[in-house]
Amino acid sequence: MHTALCDRLGIEFPIFAFSHCRDVVAAVSEAGGFAVLGALGFTAEELETELCWIDAHVGDRPYGVDVVMPSTREQQDGGDSKELARKLSGLIPAGHRAFAARLLEEHGVPALPEGERARELIGWIDATAKSQVQTALGHPRVRLVASALGTPPPEVIAEVKASGRLTAALSGSVRHDLAHHEAGVDVIIAQGYEGGAHTGDVASMVLWPEVIDAVAPTPVLAAGGIGTGRQIAAALAMGAEGVWTGSLWLLVEEADLQPAQRASYLHAGTGDTVRSRSFTGKPNRMLRNAWTDAWEAPDAPEPLGMPLQYMATAEAVSRTSRYANRSQDVAFNAGGQVVGLLDEVRSTRDVIYSLVEDYFEAVDRLQGLAP
Ligand SMILES: Cc1cc2nc3c(=O)[nH]c(=O)nc-3n(C[C@H](O)[C@H](O)[C@H](O)COP(=O)(O)O)c2cc1C
Repeated sequence: MHTALCDRLGIEFPIFAFSHCRDVVAAVSEAGGFAVLGALGFTAEELETELCWIDAHVGDRPYGVDVVMPSTREQQDGGDSKELARKLSGLIPAGHRAFAARLLEEHGVPALPEGERARELIGWIDATAKSQVQTALGHPRVRLVASALGTPPPEVIAEVKASGRLTAALSGSVRHDLAHHEAGVDVIIAQGYEGGAHTGDVASMVLWPEVIDAVAPTPVLAAGGIGTGRQIAAALAMGAEGVWTGSLWLLVEEADLQPAQRASYLHAGTGDTVRSRSFTGKPNRMLRNAWTDAWEAPDAPEPLGMPLQYMATAEAVSRTSRYANRSQDVAFNAGGQVVGLLDEVRSTRDVIYSLVEDYFEAVDRLQGLAP
């Protein structure tokens, strides 16, 4: 199970784990995998706090940071972020906010307490992304900086590489992965259709070998749908240098989910997710519920692009997460089809060890087939 990438990063297993939760990050890296903290949603100052905490809990293990680097002109508009938020807010048709508000009202989701406001313009603008990268580079244990939704700008690639770290970028299509490759990204993450959150429309089984061949010899991490060691064996058999997982870490003891949201993931079957543009503006896989159905209905407004759609729905995200136990039918529960294979909450260490065990059983099975 030890690939060349394990040596480059100083890790035991080529199991990469994406999480927004620092406890999960520390636990995965401690157990011999490579955890990557999602920076989206944190200001640079908050990210600094999270990284200091991880540094204090991860010993001498490495980890990574994932930043949403903007790709559209609106998002790259530099300058004052309050001014940018005001400008962008003016582009949102009133109908979108009203539609979201009506849905919440119909489903009895309480308003935010007096004085509390949702943060509408999170991570995905240029100024935020650049300051998150600077923050990450201030932490020596951060060994990889990943770009969530596009090829990182050339100056970011150059700076991360010059600091001795690796760059990585996700994509769900061979065209985008080739663009990452041509820009000089060190590690390509090929995420299939079944994966959690933003995802393309080609399934992992077809996408992985296509990307592996297209960008060779650049290392590829296989993402989208992985929840067992058998699948890791399949990915490595195809030529991937590791796997990149996300949904799996929603159901570990260390994850900071509210009980109602955890129950939603636990009860979901493999057919209970949908790719929907209703929260972020880009196709994002999440648990299907009354919210996702409503945005598909003929009378629903057409979702806006990124970041406008999230600005129109940020209040819904805040309210449904604050009152999770009363709002699961309209909550944003990003997750991939693999949630249907997960039916218990275990410690991160247990999950890593059973992935490794299951991987070796699969390899033994294959060896048993050899003449
Ligand atoms: C709740 C959730 C949030 C996610 N947020 C991000 C993100 O902010 N940035 C990113 O690069 N990927 C994000 N992802 C995608 C993961 O990095 C990963 O590619 C994906 O989960 C892999 O598919 P899987 O869920 O089937 O394992 C998220 C995934 C989940 C489940």
